[in-house]
Amino acid sequence: MATDHAGITQAPGALPIVGHLFPLLRDPLHFLKTLPSYGDLVQIRLGPQRAVVVCRPDLVQDVLLQDRIFDKGGPIIERVGNALGAGIASCPHSAHRRQRRSLQPAFSRASLREYAAIMTEQIDVLTSGWGDGRTVDAGAQMYGLASETISRTLFTADAARPAVDTVTVCLPDIFRGIYQQAVLPPLLRRLPLPSNRRYERARNRAWAAVSKTIGLYRQDGKNHGDVLSMLLATRDDAGEALGDAEIHAQIMTLLVAGIDTTAVALTWAVHLLCQYPDVQERLRSHTAKVLGTRTATWDDLPQLDLARRVVTETLRLYPPGWLFTRTTTTEARLADAVIPPDTTLVYSPYLMHHDARFNPRPDRFDPDRWLPEHPHERGAFIPFGGGARKCIGDNYAMNLATLALATIVTRWRLSHGNLQPPRVEPRMTLSPHQVQVRVECLDRASA
Ligand code: HEM
Repeated sequence: MATDHAGITQAPGALPIVGHLFPLLRDPLHFLKTLPSYGDLVQIRLGPQRAVVVCRPDLVQDVLLQDRIFDKGGPIIERVGNALGAGIASCPHSAHRRQRRSLQPAFSRASLREYAAIMTEQIDVLTSGWGDGRTVDAGAQMYGLASETISRTLFTADAARPAVDTVTVCLPDIFRGIYQQAVLPPLLRRLPLPSNRRYERARNRAWAAVSKTIGLYRQDGKNHGDVLSMLLATRDDAGEALGDAEIHAQIMTLLVAGIDTTAVALTWAVHLLCQYPDVQERLRSHTAKVLGTRTATWDDLPQLDLARRVVTETLRLYPPGWLFTRTTTTEARLADAVIPPDTTLVYSPYLMHHDARFNPRPDRFDPDRWLPEHPHERGAFIPFGGGARKCIGDNYAMNLATLALATIVTRWRLSHGNLQPPRVEPRMTLSPHQVQVRVECLDRASA
């Protein structure tokens, strides 16, 4: 095994020109899991580009906490910047503090409480729309719930409805395109392949729809009590309003960062509840005591602790964001290695959560490992990242997933009879392919 710099090992199996492209497209999770056996810092190749995968949780924490040295960068971030504009998730450290301050009020406790009302309304629509004994595509259902809820949180005005619809239709091609474009060598990225064209078309349509909505909001000048109105009213430290380009980038970023991740988390949770019917029954008897036949609301959250643990354990087993990158802004030290400037580093919540050296029984679904009295049952846990760039929507996502799951199981029994986990689609998120679920109504009066 070759070593380029002291402490960094090269992963074996790189092919000329394409490097590790094939294992990354074919079975990225398996490929990732093989890397820690070569060292703590393992270099992989994507065409001419190289990236160092960080394979130890304490080193990942070092990277996340030193966001000035390990800044946003690398091929995925370049593609995210290209798709969304210079928003909070892709901007460099120098712009980040200001952008985070301008967005933070949208995720305050008071705002989350208001958004919970939209969540309850949308969960009610979803859970009233199924037919007894029918089979539903859990991925599509959860995507519908997450996209309706998050889009309405961002823009509630009726005039924004066409934009919500356009964005909802375009986002899947954008998610897929960003990942494919990030792993393709630059030459292939520019070819007029059908996948490249689909991505460009989707990105341009969503971009135009959001631009139009910002224009409509500026024209009517009203406060709609949503995130877009808040951004339009924001003044920075110098008292300046945010420009259209920045507002556009933040809205696109929130849509892309929030919808697919939350939908994927919920889809995995539904799959796991089918795979573990005993957990589903326990959850049902627990939530039925809290909710009766009501849809879960903000005020129920403190009592829905088992539902929250199921969501947490789902995020541990299948973290929707499975691969992120950073770039060194200067020569950096990590463990004993000296990392040159401009090196791309990769961290993977999936890899950290599944490494048996740091997690007891990592592949077992056990929501009770999150009980306060079981601290030794859990190890590295970073589904929302960490440090200054930690997910701004973590509480939003946890609330939506907890309220949705609690309501779904009190009203419906879920089953699919598949003991094998569904195939994983390599996209920007760790997405399960085709989770078909039979739903049986428990509240016959409303079926
Ligand atoms: C289960 C659902 C979610 C998961 C697993 C998730 C995961 C993550 C992760 C791992 C990061 C850090 C990325 C990095 O280190 O490079 C992140 C950042 C971010 N997330 Fe989430 N996310 C979720 C839901 C949401 C929601 C609902 C929103 C907003 C509506 C959101 C908005 C963002 C934003 C804006 C950032 C960038 C933060 C910054 O750089 O300051 N996410 N998310």
